[in-house]
Amino acid sequence: MKEIRISLLLTLGGLLLLTSCGGHKLSTVGSDSEVEARVERLLSRMTLAEKIGQMNQISAGGEVADYAEALRKGQVGSILNEVDPVKINELQRISVEESRLGIPLLVARDVIHGFHTVFPIPLGLAATFDPALVEEGARVAALEATSQGVRWTFSPMLDIARDPRWGRIAEGSGEDTWLDARMAEAMVYGYQGRDLDSTSMAACIKHFVGYGAAEGGRDYNSTFLTERQLRNIYLPPFEAAVKAGAQTLMTSFNDNDGVPSTGNTFVLKDVLRDELGFDGLVVTDWNSMGEMVSHGFGTDRKDVAAKAVKAGVDMDMMTFGFISHLEELVSSGAVKRSVIDDAVRNILRIKILLGLFENPYVDVEASRAVQYAPAHLDAARRSAEESAILLKNDAGALPLDAGSVGRILVTGPLADAPHDQLGTWAFDGEKTHTVTPLAALRERFGAKVEYVPGLTYSRQERARFDDVVAAARRADVVLAFVGEEAILSGEAHCLSDLDLVGSQSALLEALKATGKKVIVTVFAGRPLTIGRDLQNCDAMLYSFHPGTMGGPAVANLIFGDAVPSGKTPITFLKTVGQVPMYYNHNMTGRPYNNERLMKDIELEAGQTSLGNTSYYLDSGASPLFPFGYGLSYTSFEYSDIKLDKSSYSPSDVISVSFTLANTGKYDADEVVQVYVRDLVGSVTRPVKELKGFERLSLRAGEKRSMTLTVPVDELAFWGLDGKKKVEPGDFQLWVAGDSASGAPLSFKVQ
Ligand code: BGC
Repeated sequence: MKEIRISLLLTLGGLLLLTSCGGHKLSTVGSDSEVEARVERLLSRMTLAEKIGQMNQISAGGEVADYAEALRKGQVGSILNEVDPVKINELQRISVEESRLGIPLLVARDVIHGFHTVFPIPLGLAATFDPALVEEGARVAALEATSQGVRWTFSPMLDIARDPRWGRIAEGSGEDTWLDARMAEAMVYGYQGRDLDSTSMAACIKHFVGYGAAEGGRDYNSTFLTERQLRNIYLPPFEAAVKAGAQTLMTSFNDNDGVPSTGNTFVLKDVLRDELGFDGLVVTDWNSMGEMVSHGFGTDRKDVAAKAVKAGVDMDMMTFGFISHLEELVSSGAVKRSVIDDAVRNILRIKILLGLFENPYVDVEASRAVQYAPAHLDAARRSAEESAILLKNDAGALPLDAGSVGRILVTGPLADAPHDQLGTWAFDGEKTHTVTPLAALRERFGAKVEYVPGLTYSRQERARFDDVVAAARRADVVLAFVGEEAILSGEAHCLSDLDLVGSQSALLEALKATGKKVIVTVFAGRPLTIGRDLQNCDAMLYSFHPGTMGGPAVANLIFGDAVPSGKTPITFLKTVGQVPMYYNHNMTGRPYNNERLMKDIELEAGQTSLGNTSYYLDSGASPLFPFGYGLSYTSFEYSDIKLDKSSYSPSDVISVSFTLANTGKYDADEVVQVYVRDLVGSVTRPVKELKGFERLSLRAGEKRSMTLTVPVDELAFWGLDGKKKVEPGDFQLWVAGDSASGAPLSFKVQ
């Protein structure tokens, strides 16, 4: 029997690194004490102005000459948004050779899901449930970006998001704390490498904290998270990333319960530094320090600069509050010198650890060959394949047989939209390198492919479908690519209606009416409310924004060269009015576990109620698709699910054994998920919580017995007494292919 340790492997990897070098990742530049000694030597030679200069981050956008003087004077510690390696070398040369102390710059960029080779958006990456593949993708991003001189990325975004109206839901791992934490570790390992070297790009975990809970799903909005929610739901991914060695952290734009994060001493000091043990660099979000004036949390830029630095901010991104006011604040005694010294230590340390002092320059010629390397494109394709979720497949509509397929109609606004399939935050991905579904299908099927877009862009309202309907009649199969362009999700791109925009649903309806087989692929930055569209297709693949290699990936899935295995990293809703609806909610006093209510509600004439439980009269109590859901071309059966014991102590590790059988005709992957419920707590507990998962490959007909493990201390939570611990009592555990399936096993914790 094969034993798989699902929860500890990555964490252990992180711990080993941590214990072997006392908090920092291993670096080629020397031991911890040597690094600290270098920091102190440098610090002792710096003037107050030079120290404050290190705390200033500016955005590029002009010519090197525009910043040269500031660099010479030591007024800039970091620059973001410069990616030209020739210019970066020159910026470094000026900093190193022409400033008094020769401190190199930390060059930053939002490398969010790939640099040139673009991977699926983070929400799509989460759908892979494959941390190893996500780590591989982040490593590719680091190799490409660092070869051009970018040594700091503002990723991963760890904001738990339960509201698909929020455009930035695209940038995170969805609604689940455990999944988010595993993705966090994977990305930190990938960006930074397991040891720090010249290909390490410092990760920046963001946005600290609670930003994804923006009221109404409107970006930048206030949040009102209780300390218990913060600790049980929002902080664990940050904790996991810190343990994995994340070097930097970004504050968030939101105010939580009235306190803007950039001035929040409780979260930035008490929690982050004292409890989580973070010893890296804290940067503000873009002008988030200045925005504390708009929040009404400070009178002017000087006031908020003092508040931010005292709260624990080390570097100011684009407020210019530190560079303009800190000297005066120190002279007047409003800010202590030791506060400045601590901040500068955190900045110098990361520059030393990255080896920037030894080697500030990049080889421009060599960097060209690194971009879009075949292995990078291959990893991007595999990621796009694993992230696609099969939501419907009536009567085995998919896969299509490449050998016998006749005329193929390719249609829809996203079929050939190279920029839009890259998704949000893909600054450096180029259209010319992006392979669209149309290009991939034409490459493979040549003249068999007829392309009639139907709609030129998703929001097009007025459209006649005569041409596309006529083409559908001529075709044997219709492949429709719908969804939303990149610009409809991401920062400040929120929506209050989540149906397919424009006339896309009407297009699908018209296509379906032809009686031809209609296969729909959705490219989107969020889970859209696609219930109506599911009626108008035979099969639906949900690909989020799949990146550079989205076209070949989707073509492989449609024609069975790859088998869908992605699972929903977030609950898919029937209607936007169900927001927020997530699988790991607490139990109400009047739960809706009524068979009838879990289905679509149909009230009889005159009926106004189905009983006093928690549900919507018009959309029931269940979502369209639960968390963790996704079909395959094959089928899987779980059996013999057993726990090794009926009662555990808090220090035990639970072993659950089971047999998984691939009962269909295709070799395929299944994402096995382990959920736990704590039946009674000092505070009410979620109805289910993911506590482990494993992606397993099984050949057609293969049957495998195996064991997954969950340490009992993973069941700990922040209870009524304000302490995190496992509360003894009765629990349930599920092993299943999604969050709504399976039968629970019972156990006790003593
Ligand atoms: C975003 C951050 C991003 C920063 C720098 C801000 O507007 O909120 O996530 O890293 O800009 O581009």
